[in-house]
Amino acid sequence: MAINLAIVGATGNVGRAMINILAEREFPVKNLYPLASHRSVGKKITFGNQVLEVNNLDGFDFRNVDIALFSAGAQVSEQYAKIAAENAVVIDNTSYFRTDPNIPLIVTEVNIEKLEEYKHTNIISNPNCAVMQMLVALKPLHDVATIKRIVVTTFQSVSGAGKKAMDELYDQTKQRLMADSLSRKVFPKQITFNVLPHIGEFDEDGNTAEESKIIAETQKILDPAIQVSATCVRVPVFIGHSESVNVEFVNPISVSEAREILENADGILVSDDPERMMGYTTPIETVGEDHVFVSRIREDKSAANCLSLWIVSDNLRKGAALNAVQIAEELVKKYI
Ligand SMILES: NC(=O)c1ccc[n+]([C@@H]2O[C@H](COP(=O)([O-])OP(=O)(O)OC[C@H]3O[C@@H](n4cnc5c(N)ncnc54)[C@H](OP(=O)(O)O)[C@@H]3O)[C@@H](O)[C@H]2O)c1
Repeated sequence: MAINLAIVGATGNVGRAMINILAEREFPVKNLYPLASHRSVGKKITFGNQVLEVNNLDGFDFRNVDIALFSAGAQVSEQYAKIAAENAVVIDNTSYFRTDPNIPLIVTEVNIEKLEEYKHTNIISNPNCAVMQMLVALKPLHDVATIKRIVVTTFQSVSGAGKKAMDELYDQTKQRLMADSLSRKVFPKQITFNVLPHIGEFDEDGNTAEESKIIAETQKILDPAIQVSATCVRVPVFIGHSESVNVEFVNPISVSEAREILENADGILVSDDPERMMGYTTPIETVGEDHVFVSRIREDKSAANCLSLWIVSDNLRKGAALNAVQIAEELVKKYI
């Protein structure tokens, strides 16, 4: 069966990644409707060997659409996703619906069995990029040894903040090297040659919005009993999020057991062989890759039943666009 697909936010980082991944994976597309703001109307985008024109989301008629992939920010989803869901199944990449108890929040390797809950609202939510890669790696370990507590520090690339954020890193780097004054619109402080422990607004407890998302989404997807402490840091890397993750389990689990479990799990590449990649993966090595890379697996002897890991992935692929396309594939296989 061929599917009519709308891509909302088709000119953005995630939208463009989704269109490429749909073509790469030969998703059965009948018609693809690229949508964005009025600013992009008439722009051309390439889908496989077709060149398609971008249309305005505002005023678009979703009656001919089977699946709508939304990736244009939370405000756009707030305004348009429910309208689209009157006719199409919406897969939403933004934060807008993620904590809604009536809307399934799906990582395909982790909780695909919850997908059918989309029937209540016709909407499925795609998790935060930092949560996505962490849970792909931790779910198989949780199944065996039960996670009690996670302490995670993220090192998140600028592409996670959209295409204007990538431009800002590029421009500031050039300006710094040319000894020009720095322009700044997206990030709260200089991002080039710097790191910012500040992703999203601060709340009254001192957590940022990104840190709160990691806590809430981990508990919704994996287990509400898991305690989570998160520190999210923006780093001057274009693509690829890295995470230092410390995990305390209820039951004992050795490094060799953990490695074997991860080596046999879907979506993961264990990359701790010192002969290859020097025993660890860096973000630049994950660009364009589908896997979540896990390395530096080691025992943390400072507490019982504790492991530390280094988890890296292309945030635009498994962290966003790939998972959305995998959800769409599952919808086609089972429900549409
Ligand atoms: N980047 C990531 O790693 C990542 C991961 C998970 C989730 N997300 C989420 O995905 C969403 C998009 O992220 P992104 O990185 O792709 O952002 P982006 O590169 O800034 O792209 C934003 C897209 O939204 C469109 N848009 C903005 N305002 C619109 C409006 N009023 N009506 C219609 N379209 C509008 C833009 O169209 P114009 O070009 O016409 O302005 C563009 O296509 C965000 O909610 C983000 O939080 C991102």
